[in-house]
Amino acid sequence: MASTQGAAKVLVASNRGPVSYEVRGDGSLHSKRGGGGLVSGLSAIGPDADALWVCSALSDGDREAVRRGVGEDGVLMLDVPADVHADAYNGIANSVLWFVHHMLYQTPLEPVFDAEFRRQWESYETYNRAFAQALADRAAPGAAVLVQDYHLCLVPGMLRELRPDVRIGHFSHTPWAPPEYFSMLPDDIRSQLVSGMLGADRLGFLTWRWARAFMACAEAVDRERFFPSWPSGAPASVQHTATGRPPLRTTWIGVHGLGADAEFLRARSREADVEERIAALRSEIGRAPDGTARRTVVRVDRTELSKNIVRGLLAHRQLLDDHPEWRERVVHVAFAYPSRQDLAVYRDYTAEVQRLADEINSAYGTATWTPIVLHVKDDFARSLAAYRLADVALVNPIRDGMNLVAKEVPVVSDEGCVLVLSREAGAFAELGEDAIAVNPYDVIGTARALHEALSMGPEERAERSKRLAEAATALPPAQWFLEQLGALEDGEAGVAGQGD
Ligand code: F6P
Repeated sequence: MASTQGAAKVLVASNRGPVSYEVRGDGSLHSKRGGGGLVSGLSAIGPDADALWVCSALSDGDREAVRRGVGEDGVLMLDVPADVHADAYNGIANSVLWFVHHMLYQTPLEPVFDAEFRRQWESYETYNRAFAQALADRAAPGAAVLVQDYHLCLVPGMLRELRPDVRIGHFSHTPWAPPEYFSMLPDDIRSQLVSGMLGADRLGFLTWRWARAFMACAEAVDRERFFPSWPSGAPASVQHTATGRPPLRTTWIGVHGLGADAEFLRARSREADVEERIAALRSEIGRAPDGTARRTVVRVDRTELSKNIVRGLLAHRQLLDDHPEWRERVVHVAFAYPSRQDLAVYRDYTAEVQRLADEINSAYGTATWTPIVLHVKDDFARSLAAYRLADVALVNPIRDGMNLVAKEVPVVSDEGCVLVLSREAGAFAELGEDAIAVNPYDVIGTARALHEALSMGPEERAERSKRLAEAATALPPAQWFLEQLGALEDGEAGVAGQGD
């Protein structure tokens, strides 16, 4: 047991926290707050809830804030040594676990699990242990602890040993790999990941597809120790034993499909800075030779390897080849915002997106028409402006836990928008019926889908868009969080329903 017990009754643990710091030229610290589901969730439980968010210092500014003792109430930033954090975050979380769950390896040459991998894995363990210890020290007796994502898979098991009294939940915001792909990982690592996760009382996923994949991985890792079940009409669970003998412990499995925050998005997208961006975008997009407004295919992504931006551009080029009638009449508006730029493979991918956009613009563009309008500098107001203008939203990831852009565009759209959606996005489970489905690898099929979307009549488009917006907002962020917290506190799978 931990020597101290803290006072926090609800704890959230995630690599990236709700606030970040920057050291200004004059040495002062400037703080910036983030958004997202967890932020809304924690504000929904109110200031009296004795909540604590444990996160990691990520930047030099964050580390400086920790050193100076600067911080926000309710946030504990852990200053894990920078080299340990880099190995755990860049080396293991982003270069191994992200790749496994999104199935991104080019397998003839990678992955290679060598001595360097083992060294980085030790850092991943150290980093997870730092979180487990901080949570153990701060949690009140019987507190609820909600651990987030693939960065912290070992925390539930570590925390369970330190504090058997607390209720532990873990939520995966990514897909989970199918067992054949997960089995690329060395056996002991697979086993550690599954056992670490099963230290939780409850595991949450964005869709049943990912939940079932986790359960199948657990069974494949050791059928003598891990017993998943997803009976029809009853909660799903994995029963497990550390030794292969009774007693069995139960970890409940639940699904919570994070939805868009309609209230916030609708209000924010009507603010003055968004109107300004709309005007600027309209002039960038321009008008067709007959004077009508050009149509737009819009995509907005963090430039992650799973987002499939390059094939989206190839599909647009194919559209211009297969349907020359769209030349001069449609613009592909792509916002590809920087992500994980410490990793060379991410930088190379961004460069390839830029190179291909330039190539298409030189080959097809005219003095008055730029076929691809690409922006790589993050600008939330401009994203909302593009959402409002979009005739078609292209969301074609190779694989995605959910994809909130697919949910946000229909909510904000001015005149209704057709969604071209990858069947490999988690959002497909909820939005598939009213979207045009694509196989993300099929560039010709995607071009066909773009043509169909651009050709759809205004009535059908508006109707579909309305239904998409309804489905997209079924579980707003605050409710998504409260639902998980409630289920964890009730000690069962709660409202999450069945696994089939
Ligand atoms: O989309 C999956 C996800 O893990 C989110 O849960 C999380 O916000 C993000 O990716 C992590 O990204 P970053 O590496 O920029 O912190």
